[in-house]
Amino acid sequence: MRRPMVAGNWKMHGTRASVAELINGLNNQALPADVDVAVFPSFLHLGQVVDGFLGKAIAMGAQDCAVQPLEGALTGEVAASQLHDAGCSLVLVGHSERRSLLGEGDEVITRKFAAAQSSGLHVVFCVGESLAEREAGRTLEVVAAQISAVIDTLGVEVFATAIIAYEPVWAIGTGLTASPEQAQYVHAAIRGQLALQSPELAGKTRILYGGSVKAASAAELFGMPDIDGGLVGGASLNADEFGAICRAAGS
Ligand code: 13P
Repeated sequence: MRRPMVAGNWKMHGTRASVAELINGLNNQALPADVDVAVFPSFLHLGQVVDGFLGKAIAMGAQDCAVQPLEGALTGEVAASQLHDAGCSLVLVGHSERRSLLGEGDEVITRKFAAAQSSGLHVVFCVGESLAEREAGRTLEVVAAQISAVIDTLGVEVFATAIIAYEPVWAIGTGLTASPEQAQYVHAAIRGQLALQSPELAGKTRILYGGSVKAASAAELFGMPDIDGGLVGGASLNADEFGAICRAAGS
């Protein structure tokens, strides 16, 4: 019912040469027709990626956008409208690295969410708890609050075209993956939260898992009923590994 998605977040990685190599590697991958595949390069490499994937069914997203939807005087930022113009169809909002290392809070995140949607981008909205929050038994409370911050300001309908990524902070870049059962438990709770306001929307919204997803762990994670694919960091920098993860999401 929900079409799976596998997205690669390249984070602050890549040179022109390494990106050319990765594009070439991905162009040689057999990707499943029943999975939406996307990559999120740095702003610098968006043009190179658009040109590199001509004719290949790989969507492109940005890792961030400005709080202001349209271009204007805002030094160093990139507007969602510019990203759309550059060929992006998606954008990450609320990634934990931006929340924790750059101090992005709910207000800024919600503004970016709205800016992205008003420019026609699909938001991949990232949520997740820290290790301390998990150990304190606060996982569901933390994730629910992150989602409520958006719903309370913008309404639940914004999730009709958005995608949610559950990324436990303790699993990002650590090699520690949430078990399929741990992830499923949180995914089901997220869907339950949406269902309180709109069961129909909740049934359609894709919820991806992120946090040290590898080809070896992907199939089991993606086999869980509420896990609709993955948001992949480190492993997405290797074309063979990423291709295998995409194939694990296919039927
Ligand atoms: P890793 O797959 O490297 O843990 O990163 C996950 C992530 O943050 C994707 O956005």
